[in-house]
Order: sequence, then structure tokens, then C-alpha cells
Amino acid sequence: THEALASEIHGTSDLLSKLPTREGWSEPLVLYKNYWFRPHLAANIMHVQNNFKPRHDDTILALNPKCGTTWMKALAFTITSRFRYDFVNHPLLSHHPQDVVPFIEIPWDGDMTYVERLPSPRLLTTHIPPSLLPSSIASWGCRVVYMCRDPKDTFVSRWHFENRVSREHNISLESAFSMFSEGFSAYGPFWDHCLEYWKKSIANPDKVLFLKYEDMILEPIKYVIRLATFLGAPFSTKEEEDGIPEEVVRLCSFEKLSNLQINQTGEFSRRDNLVLDKSAFFRKGKVGDWVNHMSEEMGRKLDSITEEKLNGSSLVL
Ligand code: A3P
Repeated sequence: THEALASEIHGTSDLLSKLPTREGWSEPLVLYKNYWFRPHLAANIMHVQNNFKPRHDDTILALNPKCGTTWMKALAFTITSRFRYDFVNHPLLSHHPQDVVPFIEIPWDGDMTYVERLPSPRLLTTHIPPSLLPSSIASWGCRVVYMCRDPKDTFVSRWHFENRVSREHNISLESAFSMFSEGFSAYGPFWDHCLEYWKKSIANPDKVLFLKYEDMILEPIKYVIRLATFLGAPFSTKEEEDGIPEEVVRLCSFEKLSNLQINQTGEFSRRDNLVLDKSAFFRKGKVGDWVNHMSEEMGRKLDSITEEKLNGSSLVL
């Protein structure tokens, strides 16, 4: 009802105004339950916590931002919809990958009920860590694909993205580096996010598939085959003979997608001095690009933070 919604919005804005705020990135972030968020997303996440109803046949693509969300959306969409579309007239040739799989917490047209109205089985995406989702993943029954990435490359990607998005700020690499290292970045601390999903995947490997960007870049065909099996849509022997996994990899490759007109022009949104260009989701798509931006010493520092943070877990990044 309108009253319930009004009271929820009131409660949310009340809570939001009490959260610690810190400046430094393209807009100030708020700290909500140990994670940093852009304020409007913190409000959406509170809404998700209160209202999102997972379904047993949902598939959720979960990633830290800048770990390859755009790529994972394209891959999972192409794999699961391959009996509906051929590669010649494929939706990804005319739609941005961000537009083919919705986010749970970032609504299209501001409509938070959109996701609820989707027919099953749903393919969804989120950047939200499990501890901030409505209930534990184990009890959902749905599949979760998590992909993480080398923190150094993720950081460099984040830094470029923030400066692309902001028409006002020019954040220096050094200050971005110290913020990221402290765990202060959107949906950060980066490591806590990875660790939470890592633990879920250890506890429930049939339901949570944990992938790494670097592995996928190195052996994309092998991982696309694995992904298809996990998603309940394994490639048949005939499909493998016909080179369908290779077709999927080619269509979703950085080279292919970043050169499409639909991904090169236009904006997703514009808010204050922040402009989200469609092309901002495609930069280099390489492993190890950090060496072109960070000093070796910074690299060592981030590595030692990573080692310390992941110490005691079996996760290596
Ligand atoms: P770089 O900035 O290192 O190039 P996200 O989609 O989570 O925002 O992540 C963006 C990162 O993924 C960017 O990394 C971007 O270039 C890269 N990327 C986008 N599309 C890709 C693709 N098809 N294959 C591999 N990497 C891709």
C-alpha cells in the first residue's frame, strides 16, 4: 500500500541520514553494516532486504563491481537463452549486456518491483554481499555464480571508472589507492565481499560456483562449458562438435562487444555531475593492466593486504 511504502521510505531515509558518510570518490559513500555504498544504493539495498523474495529456480550472478559483471551477464544470458536466439540476430548485437540481465538492487526506470514481476526462471545480477541479502543463500535453493578478480586490476578498473563517471572530480591514483586499501570503495571492503561468497561456495558447492576473471580469460571455452553445466544448460556432444561454446565465447568477448555501436554510444543515467556512459563498462578487459598504472611498491602493498585479509581461508587472489 501507499502508506506502507511511505513509511518504509521514511524509515529508510531516517536510517540513511544516521549512517557514517565519507567523501573521496565521485560521490560520498555511506557505511551500512560494514560495507560502503552510494547513498541511493544503500536505500535500494534496504528495500531489497525487506522485500526481495528469492525463488528456488533463480540464478544470481554475484560480483564485486569491476570484476567483470558486464562479461558475466553476457555469458550467462547467451548460454541460457541459446535455444531461443541464433548468433546472427542475437540480442547482444543490439542491446548492451547490462540491459539483458537486471540487477536486484539497481532497478530499471527506478521501479523496484520490476524484478518481482519477472517470470521464472529468473536470471538476475547483484553486487550485494550475502550478509546483506534477505536470507542465507543456503536456504534459497537458487544458483549463485560468483566471479572475483585480482584486487590490483579491480582497483585500477575502479579508479578509471570513477573518473569516467564523474564530470567534476579527478581522483588521483594515490588517493584512490589508499581509500581502496582501507576497504573504502563502493560495495567494499573488496576482500570481505570475496570471502563471504567464498565461504558460501565451500559450504554449498552445488549451489555457489566461485570463478576468477583471470581463469576465465585464460581458458574461456573450458569455463563456458563449466558455466553451462552449472546453470543446468550443459552443451550436448553435438553442440560441442558444432563449436557452440566457441561461438558463445566469441560473441561475449571484449573485442566483439566493445566494438558494437550499441556499446559505444549513449548513457545509462545522469545524476548531479555523474554520467554513466554505456562505453564506460568497456575499457581494456586485460589481466595484469595494473602494472601500467601502479608502482611495483603499490602492487606489493595491495598483495600483502590481500594476503593478510585472506589469511586462514583457502582463497588465493
Ligand atoms: P578494465 O577496466 O580492467 O578493462 P564490470 O562489468 O564489473 O563493471 O567490470 C568492468 C571490467 O570488465 C572492465 O575492466 C572492462 O573492460 C571489463 N570487461 C568488460 N567486458 C568484458 C568482456 N567481454 N570480457 C572481458 N572483460 C570485460
